Amino acid sequence: MRIRTVIYLCSIVASLWILSRLFTSNPSPSPILSPVYVDNDRHIEEKRDIDSSSCDISMDSYKKCYKYTTDLLPYESVSIGIETILFLKKQLNITNETLVNASLYWNQDDRFKPFKNFIGSTNKCEVLYCGANDAGTDGLEFISQYANCQVWFLEPVAQFYDKLIHSQAILEKLQTGKHHFYQIGVSNKNDLIDITLQDIKEAQAVTLIGKQQNKENPMNEMKYKLILRDAAEILFEFHMLSKTINQTVIGELNLIHLNCEGCEYDVIERLIKTNLIQYIRIVQFGSHRPSAIRSSVSQRYCCLQQMLSATHQLEFGIPWAWERWLRKDLF
Ligand SMILES: *[C@@H]1O[C@H](CO)[C@@H](O)[C@H](O)[C@H]1NC(C)=O
Ligand SMILES: *[C@@H]1O[C@H](CO)[C@@H](O)[C@H](O)[C@H]1NC(C)=O
Ligand SMILES: *[C@@H]1O[C@H](CO)[C@@H](O)[C@H](O)[C@H]1NC(C)=O
Ligand SMILES: *[C@@H]1O[C@H](CO)[C@@H](O)[C@H](O)[C@H]1NC(C)=O
Repeated sequence: MRIRTVIYLCSIVASLWILSRLFTSNPSPSPILSPVYVDNDRHIEEKRDIDSSSCDISMDSYKKCYKYTTDLLPYESVSIGIETILFLKKQLNITNETLVNASLYWNQDDRFKPFKNFIGSTNKCEVLYCGANDAGTDGLEFISQYANCQVWFLEPVAQFYDKLIHSQAILEKLQTGKHHFYQIGVSNKNDLIDITLQDIKEAQAVTLIGKQQNKENPMNEMKYKLILRDAAEILFEFHMLSKTINQTVIGELNLIHLNCEGCEYDVIERLIKTNLIQYIRIVQFGSHRPSAIRSSVSQRYCCLQQMLSATHQLEFGIPWAWERWLRKDLF
């Protein structure tokens, strides 16, 4: 009981603190001089990045990526590779055939492959884990594989977060005082969005892409406010990075691990545009096709590949499944 009370008090204090930060007029100095990040607006998703100088859609690598990713998931209803497998299996079942190429579509076990050059000479190991959902599975696995690592578990949906921090496995980690749990989502800016109970019930995981504050609510459904935080600010607030008096960024994040149903594009693009991506050793994410951006998501995905390859090198990856990028100096 006492632990629960402490956790509740802490989350109330943390939420108040986060809210107070959200509403201060000048949240924190923008991390690094960088090209202006032009449009943050989710509603004009279509044009984003595709026109920007950081993505050259005439490049062969872009065209190849675009063709491959669109051919891989021709089915409009499918949002990730595992769904393609189920879909194809169902079709093949009629003729008693088995699906022999499933590994082209889905590779969830790869995300736990040992990390190369994970920990630097300082021996410090910090992991930012976005989309912990209600079990924090991936974070717990990292903790068990790498005893040195501290993991920040982030989950914005109250119903998931509540279950998360009350699970026995997580309570044990909480008691060590080494790991951190926050009820926030990560994005390309600080934001508050509304979701409904229906949004939460519809799937095991909730995509926040395309959601916004005060959307029309004809059913008069109960709304839940979710807090999204700017990825570029979070790295400094959690002291993964800091700045010297002359604005030089110091520090390093060992791993950003994103399983956040579409937030991966906003977050990684933001880190690229603020030049903070260079302070992250390993970037690992599941790519998704949330329905709100499905029509343009292949373009966005392939632009991201191009932009990330300036600083990082792909170790493995399947579109609409899992991929891992290592910073070039670590290869
Ligand atoms: C495949 O079809 C059989 C009937 O022919 C059915 O019993 C089985 O559940 C089906 N399996 C899948 C994965 O759909
Ligand atoms: C598929 O297998 C089931 C049982 O194994 C059999 O009854 C059925 O006739 C087969 N269908 C085809 C199209 O071969
Ligand atoms: C995988 O196999 C299925 C069924 O045989 C086929 O429809 C699909 O095109 C194959 N996918 C790839 C990427 O080759
Ligand atoms: C900024 O300060 C750091 C040490 O605090 C130093 O290593 C670096 O060279 C300085 N950079 C510039 C541009 O003065």
